[in-house]
Amino acid sequence: GKVRAPTHIISTISDDRGEEPCYAGVPMSSIVEQGYGVGDVISLLWFKRSLPRYCTKFIEICIMLCADHGPCVSGAHNTIVTARAGKDLVSSLVSGLLTIGPRFGGAIDDAARYFKDAYDRGLTPYEFVEAMKKKGIRVPGIGHRIKRGDNRDKRVELLQLFARTNFPSVKYMEYAVQVETYTLSKANNLVLNVDGAIGSLFLDLLAGSGMFSKQEIDEIVEIGYLNGLFVLARSIGLIGHTFDQKRLKQPLYRHPWEDVLYTK
Ligand code: ACO
Ligand code: LMR
Repeated sequence: GKVRAPTHIISTISDDRGEEPCYAGVPMSSIVEQGYGVGDVISLLWFKRSLPRYCTKFIEICIMLCADHGPCVSGAHNTIVTARAGKDLVSSLVSGLLTIGPRFGGAIDDAARYFKDAYDRGLTPYEFVEAMKKKGIRVPGIGHRIKRGDNRDKRVELLQLFARTNFPSVKYMEYAVQVETYTLSKANNLVLNVDGAIGSLFLDLLAGSGMFSKQEIDEIVEIGYLNGLFVLARSIGLIGHTFDQKRLKQPLYRHPWEDVLYTK
């Protein structure tokens, strides 16, 4: 009979062996002919299925809204300094990407984890936030350096508007909003930030689309797919900042002494 040598790699998302490459079984020609967008390609390669249009549109809106947030944020700053040190595109890009984490852009997965756990356990926002405080953990998805209760993040409002209009249910997002109402009663900077908005709304997308089993949702949240949206999105801006610095022929960056507190 046939003898199958053991393989060293298992792969389930794409296949380049045939006449044309396939993403999760969908040939390139169909992707082009049927007018698929980046949201569809992400659905195929990350979630291994075609998602309804409102879901892929939501993914694309996340990517567009998180593509950049000016030169002063951690990621862009690193990229700019690296580009000005004469490094190449990939080095400048990854230097910026490496700042993405629990404080900056990489709180989406934890926001989804904590909001899901708190909502599913029926905790009131008060019980949830105070329990986090007792544990000494900042609520992921809450808080911003420059956004305030009276100066909300437009990105959050746009995502919420899209979801309220197009999603069958936004129960996790509404829970995150209730958490925000409580945290804003404590301090004006404790708004629902873009990571928290995406984290809670992606839970609604996964649960409301009817395309994922409960086990699959748990796996997506546990593995942590969602920070990938910010990483992917912000790469667009970081690449732009690299080109910008090179186009402007900016010299080596050196931080001014006056802006450092030298102390013993
Ligand atoms: N949960 C509870 N309390 C908080 C939170 C939070 N998420 N954020 C700030 N606070 C409170 C704390 O009491 C803090 O005091 P502490 O330093 O004793 O803990 C006080 O507010 C002041 O906090 P700052 O450190 O001055 O806030 P800062 O403006 O530096 O931090 C940050 C902003 C990093 C976003 C913070 O709010 C945070 O850690 N949030 C959670 C992580 C997160 O969601 N990050 C994504 C931000 S959006 C983005 O990057 C695209
Ligand atoms: C961002 O998207 O980079 C921001 O929300 C972070 C910031 O400090 O503005």
